[in-house]
Amino acid sequence: MTTTPQKIIEGPGSLSKLPEVVSGRVLIVTDPGIVAAGHVQRAVALLENVVVYEGVKENPTESDVAACAEFARGVKPEVLVGLGGGSSMDTAKGTLFLLSGGGVMSDYQGHGKAKGEMLPFVAIPTTAGTGSECQSYAVLCRDGSHEKMACGDPRAMARVAILDAELTGSMPLRVARLSALDALSHALESAVCNTATDESREFSFAAFRRMEPVIESVLRGTASLAERGEMLAGAAMAGRAIEASMLGGAHASANPLTAHLGVAHGRAVLTMLPAVMRWNQSEVGRIYDDLRPDLISWVEEMRGLAELEPVEVPECLVSTLADEASQQWTGRFNPRPLVAADFEQLYREALLLK
Ligand SMILES: [Fe+2]
Repeated sequence: MTTTPQKIIEGPGSLSKLPEVVSGRVLIVTDPGIVAAGHVQRAVALLENVVVYEGVKENPTESDVAACAEFARGVKPEVLVGLGGGSSMDTAKGTLFLLSGGGVMSDYQGHGKAKGEMLPFVAIPTTAGTGSECQSYAVLCRDGSHEKMACGDPRAMARVAILDAELTGSMPLRVARLSALDALSHALESAVCNTATDESREFSFAAFRRMEPVIESVLRGTASLAERGEMLAGAAMAGRAIEASMLGGAHASANPLTAHLGVAHGRAVLTMLPAVMRWNQSEVGRIYDDLRPDLISWVEEMRGLAELEPVEVPECLVSTLADEASQQWTGRFNPRPLVAADFEQLYREALLLK
């Protein structure tokens, strides 16, 4: 069964619909950058009974979520709003688990471990990338390591997602680029993963079709409001595709690069994606062709527009990265199986080794 937000509200200026979908005391979970961009003030001005938690950190950890939950316990909200990028939405989502069931986030790693009734949750993305607004999973980091932990339950799905492209105009170009490439990778990995179904593939294809005509302007930094709206809708649709299927080898091999070298997620994924797609070509080449002829070279062209710096990795780290990639949950869903030795080969193909 596919879980989706009960309602998606789309269109420039649609943040103004927020009062129609919340009632009672609202807690907005966000980060200082979103406050500085003015988005939080706009949301607050629309509501009568609202408190703001602005302590969200990038790549939130278990403790970061615990701090938000502690704040929320003092506020006693009736609705949670996640306003920001994936970190804000995932911190808010994680808080739902802790408020309803107590304990720590690692108690909820996996699927369907939530306890009790969760507060209603409204997701308002300010980046067009993660698709977290359409997913029931919070992706968090374990304390003390950068190991990613996915905690999901159908109850954690947003009741409403508001997709307002006016909010994505404040992203710095680098963030817009990395988010767009991440969203593109979600459409492409979910389309071919071994749990994809006809239904999930419809989401993957629809996401790709919305992003494909506009991603070049997004990457060049020239996107109009309408084009940003398409990118935002495409990224959300790709989130639905992941929810209905999964990801694959590019995400599995990207995560160790982030954990060991602090490489930003979108940069890490796109560093690996073309090599993983070439690896998959013999299994799923027909799906790639259906998406677009010469898909892999087009992906490389898009990556070029984003002006990503090459990822440099010390030779001595490659086998560790490959080992960890082979243990990533997302890697199991790659259409062509990947063991550690295969990941090592992919890293050698994709990385600058020194
Ligand atoms: Fe991703």
